[in-house]
Amino acid sequence: MFVSWKSIQSHARGAVLSLIALSLLCFSGAASAQFAKGADVSWITQMEASGYRWSNDNGTQQDLLQILKDHGIDSIRLRVWVNPSGGWSGRNDVIAKAVRARNAGFRIMIDFHYSDSWADPGKQTKPAAWRTHTFEQLMSDVYWHTYDTMNALAANNVFPEWVQVGNETNNGMLWEDGRASVNMRNFAWLVNSGYDAVKAISPSSKVIVHISNAYDNALFRWMFDGLRSNGGKWDIIGMSLYPEPSNWQTLNNQALTNMRDMRSRYGKDVMIVEVGMTVDQATTSRSFLADLISKTRSAGGQGVFYWEPQAYNWMGYTKGAWNTNGRPTVALDAFLEGGQASGMTIQENSTGFCGVDGTVDSNNSGYTGTGFANTDNANGTSVRWRVNVATSGAYTFQWRFANGTTGDRPGSLRVNGATSGPTVALNPTGAWTTWTNSGSVTATLNAGANNLSLVATNTGGLANVDSLTVTGNGVSATACN
Ligand code: GCU
Ligand code: CA
Ligand code: CA
Repeated sequence: MFVSWKSIQSHARGAVLSLIALSLLCFSGAASAQFAKGADVSWITQMEASGYRWSNDNGTQQDLLQILKDHGIDSIRLRVWVNPSGGWSGRNDVIAKAVRARNAGFRIMIDFHYSDSWADPGKQTKPAAWRTHTFEQLMSDVYWHTYDTMNALAANNVFPEWVQVGNETNNGMLWEDGRASVNMRNFAWLVNSGYDAVKAISPSSKVIVHISNAYDNALFRWMFDGLRSNGGKWDIIGMSLYPEPSNWQTLNNQALTNMRDMRSRYGKDVMIVEVGMTVDQATTSRSFLADLISKTRSAGGQGVFYWEPQAYNWMGYTKGAWNTNGRPTVALDAFLEGGQASGMTIQENSTGFCGVDGTVDSNNSGYTGTGFANTDNANGTSVRWRVNVATSGAYTFQWRFANGTTGDRPGSLRVNGATSGPTVALNPTGAWTTWTNSGSVTATLNAGANNLSLVATNTGGLANVDSLTVTGNGVSATACN
């Protein structure tokens, strides 16, 4: 026996009605169709309280939100827990972060978990305070928790552009009552309780129902067919995608097909609200993100959000986009969509490549550009480059290389003749045709032109060097002297 969410709503207290009217008057941000590039940074306050700080690409410490903005991010997503131990992601913490992001000019997404802690496909645990409640009470709980949180945000003049009712609700929420595979109608009614509460405070906010595995069209059809046939209400279908470096192309293609199907099947917008990839394959992650952003645009999707990119050495989470030296990885550059490259790659036989003690070869396939630098197999042999930077500061250097031997062929970076930073390992890659990126080293460049060299420190000479990438603001290759 169920009562409808409508009757739950009819309990609305007169005292709050004037607040609703006030918030309607204050509402100014008409929903924008502009493609959103976002980051969920819900951990930011807890990390800062633990002493975390972040640096930009040049190693200068800055506010995290500024660094994200400088990488093309324009939207911030924040999760809400009902009564979390410690208070992080509880209402006050969420309001503080939302106000800070709003003041910094970001668009806002609020993500209700309807739990005291993580809600995801594997767990949708009721908040302790709701555990003994009837289903009718749970609908009321969802309504008033959503309403009160939205109202508190509104009191701070924050009207989120998007609100998620539930997080990764692949099988519903507030288990067991709202377990979708057992009772889809219950889940639909809980969703509608949240939907109505959002709209009561902020009619222009778009309500998102979010499930994971963006590539799994059968899952999405099952869920949204089920919600539709039970009168469920939503504005946007939200998706997560966390591929491996080995399968992202396949999953991105499947996600594209799924996004198109969702839009045509239900006539609703779609959005990628969470993505991530292992932090130690940042170059691959950048390719994955760039491709996903472009595919989401082409499917008419509303945006792509990276989940907790600022996490490094934190809570055991390994899918952030930050180096342990405090700087973002190159993965974050994908959000620039090529617009403001913060570094450059120098190939052999192009400006900025100044020669090799050996030859430029093309005998081993898989290199990029026209070939690679093959040093003579002797200690002290080198490859040389020359770059120009606008301002003196720290820059990051990384080489693409192949090493078909069984031993390291390391090199040492010299900047204007002086050894700079630790020796760069160029370890075996398995074959001369298997290319990979070295670790990154950081060194200071002078304003103006700088001579760079990578010098072999072993008798074997260097590994074969395909290209050098220099990351930092205002880098350009310049003619050799
Ligand atoms: C092979 C390989 C070269 C490489 C050389 C080396 O000859 O084809 O590209 O430079 O080994 O050991 O350095
Ligand atoms: Ca060689
Ligand atoms: Ca090359």
